[in-house]
Amino acid sequence: MLHTFAVNTGGLLNLQHYKITKTMSKISVIGAGNVGASCAEYIAMKDFAAEVVLLDIKENFAEGKALDLMQCATTNGFNTRISGSTNDYSKTAGSDVVVITSGIPRKPGMTREELIGVNAGIVKTVCENVLKHSPNAIIVVVSNPMDTMTYLALKSTGLPKNRIIGMGGILDSSRFRTYLGAALNCPSNDVDGMVIGGHGDTTMIPLTRLASYKGVPASQFASDDTLAKVKSDTMVGGATLTGMLGTSAWYAPGASVAALVHSIVSDQKKMFPCCVYLDGEYGQNDICIGVPVIIGKNGWESIVNLDLNDAEKAEFAKSADAVRNMNSVLGA
Ligand code: NAI
Ligand code: 2OP
Repeated sequence: MLHTFAVNTGGLLNLQHYKITKTMSKISVIGAGNVGASCAEYIAMKDFAAEVVLLDIKENFAEGKALDLMQCATTNGFNTRISGSTNDYSKTAGSDVVVITSGIPRKPGMTREELIGVNAGIVKTVCENVLKHSPNAIIVVVSNPMDTMTYLALKSTGLPKNRIIGMGGILDSSRFRTYLGAALNCPSNDVDGMVIGGHGDTTMIPLTRLASYKGVPASQFASDDTLAKVKSDTMVGGATLTGMLGTSAWYAPGASVAALVHSIVSDQKKMFPCCVYLDGEYGQNDICIGVPVIIGKNGWESIVNLDLNDAEKAEFAKSADAVRNMNSVLGA
C-alpha cells in the first residue's frame, strides 16, 4: 500500500537524504449516497489516494456520482480517479480500505437503533462481497447503528480485530469541538476534546473535563453549566441536524471518514476515537465501542488508555451496557 522513494539531492556539502512517502491506494466506498459521495469528494480533495470506487445497488447511481465528482478534478486540481459501479464488486478488487456507508439513514424522530434490522442484513452481505475481491482490506463501518454494525462486521467476517474500525467518534468529537469553540468564543480548531463511548444520543460521552483551549483546561474559560450545555448539545448533535435536514448529515460525516482513511493509507498514526473491539480494555469485553486509538497502515494499531475519573468510568460502563443491549438484537 505504501511506496517509499529515497531521494538524493546530491552535492558534496549539502548531501541530503529524505523520504517522500507516496500512497498508491485504492479505496472503495459501498453506498454512494450522501455520506459515501461526500467521503469520496473529501478523499479526492485531499488527493492522497490513487483511486476511489463508489458502489451502489441503485442502477447507474454510483456511476453518476463518480462522473459528477470527476468533473471537479480540473477545477479543484486533484488526480484521484473516481469510478462508479452498480453492484459489481469485481470493480472494487484489490482495495486497501473499504468504507461501508450503505444502508438507510435515520429519518426525523427515528433512532439509530431502529435502523438495526435493515442495516444488519445490508452490512453482512456487503462484507461478504467485499472480502471476496479485497481479502486484505481494512473495513471502515459507518452505517448505523454503527457500534452494533461494527460488531456484526467483526463477528461475521472473522477478520483480525485491528482491521475493523467503526467511525462515529471522529464526527462526534468534531461536533463537540464546534460547540465548545462557539461557547468559548474562539476558533474550534483551537480547542481540543474527545467523545468516547457509543455513537448514540444517550451513549456518547463528550469528555468535558479533558477538553482544552490550546492545552489549557476548558473549565478555566467556561462555567460548569456552559460545559454541561456543550455536552448535551453534542450528544444530540446528529438528531439536531436530522431534524433540520430531513435526513442525517453528510458533510461532517464524509470529512470524518476521509480523515480516518487518510491516516490509514498514509500511515499517519493519528489518534482518533474509533469504535473498536475491546478485550479487557476499559473494563469491557466482547464489544465494539468508541475509545481513542492510533490509526495507521494496519488499521487500528493500539488503544490509548485514558485516566478516567469514577464518574466517567461509570458513564462508560453505562454506555457499554446500552451498546451490548443493542448487540443482543443481532442474535434475536
Ligand atoms: P443515503 O440513503 O444517502 O445513502 C445510502 C446508500 O446506500 C443509498 O444510495 C442506497 O442505495 C445504498 N444502499 C442500500 N443498500 C445497499 C446495498 N446492499 N449495497 C450497496 N448500496 C446500498 O444515506 P446516508 O445519509 O449516506 O447514510 C448512510 C448510512 O450512514 C446510514 O446508515 C446513516 O445512518 C449512517 N451514518 C452514520 C454516521 C456515523 O457517524 N457513523 C454519520 C452519518 C450517517
Ligand atoms: C449522525 O450522527 C445519524 O449517525 C448520524 O449524524
